[in-house]
Amino acid sequence: SRSINLAVIPGDGIGQEVVAQGLKVLNAVLPQDVKLETKEYDFGARRYHASGETLTDADLADLKKHEAILLGAIGDPSVPSGVLERGFLLKLRFAFDHHVNLRPSRLLPGVATPLAGQPEIDFVVVREGTEGPYTGNGGTIRKGTPHEVATEVSVNTAFGVERVVRDAFARAQARPRKKLTLVHKNNVLAFAGHLWTNVFNQVATEFPDVTTDYIHVDAATIYLVTDPARFDVIVTDNLFGDIITDLAAAVSGGIGVAASGNINPSREFPSMFEPVHGSAPDIAGQGKADPTATVLSVALLLRHLGYDDEATRVEAAVSADLGERGDTTRTTDEIGDALAVRVAG
Ligand code: IPM
Ligand code: MN
Repeated sequence: SRSINLAVIPGDGIGQEVVAQGLKVLNAVLPQDVKLETKEYDFGARRYHASGETLTDADLADLKKHEAILLGAIGDPSVPSGVLERGFLLKLRFAFDHHVNLRPSRLLPGVATPLAGQPEIDFVVVREGTEGPYTGNGGTIRKGTPHEVATEVSVNTAFGVERVVRDAFARAQARPRKKLTLVHKNNVLAFAGHLWTNVFNQVATEFPDVTTDYIHVDAATIYLVTDPARFDVIVTDNLFGDIITDLAAAVSGGIGVAASGNINPSREFPSMFEPVHGSAPDIAGQGKADPTATVLSVALLLRHLGYDDEATRVEAAVSADLGERGDTTRTTDEIGDALAVRVAG
């Protein structure tokens, strides 16, 4: 019989609450013959305060035994900004070579958007996940003086750019509209811009049926608001992708419904699925967090593991739930229960 060996990292703040709902829905949607085995990890602020530790080599070795990871959120105001994010989250993405950071945006019927009318929004951002300015390649001189100089070098390798661009082309080819937009800033960032544009144009020759487009990142933020229907698949670097996917979330139902997958397509390492939102310490422990983003991340997880029907059922349940949600205020648990009932039925 089949089984899924899942590592679970609830993390900080609302991460605990939303992951519980994600697991609830996962349990409800899986067929009887699929055995779900989970192991929970205590990563985040509590572990850090108790031991001073972030992610260790032993943790990585242990996590590596799993087929996938479900993560809630990492980050807490009791720890200086960046320590947990870099020590757990980014370390995981880098160690497990999660170079495809997949962030779909779909405006579902009945979901409020700050945009005028009800525009067609159905695109996916393929954000590079292991390079760019996230590599920690930089330094400071004359620190703390009025003449402090700080550099933060964006690292872009031909290998790294090509593999993520190729992945994005393949995803675009598999979608009805078959359109891929490169988002960068090649009018200013000449070196990285050249590499991205060049690789993009070269790989494009292997995908003649995919329509291609290029937009500077600043202009892309305009189109995401004024004409989001023009996007199908977007490929971009780590930092641009971070920024535009928050905007993409804001226009397509908000951060409460934005899902993501940190994917290692070779499956050499487990891929990790997480809501785009953070730990939201201001509402943690109150049962107010919307678990929808985590549940949609579970759908991405299911699809990654080859459970396509189950993934589709989870997405349909979320669609129906959002469509009928109206003005009712429900707790985290109530939304999770409603979704679990829908996927089971
Ligand atoms: C995200 C987050 C992270 C990122 C932070 C918490 C390090 O904003 O997943 O988008 O910048 O990638
Ligand atoms: Mn972000």
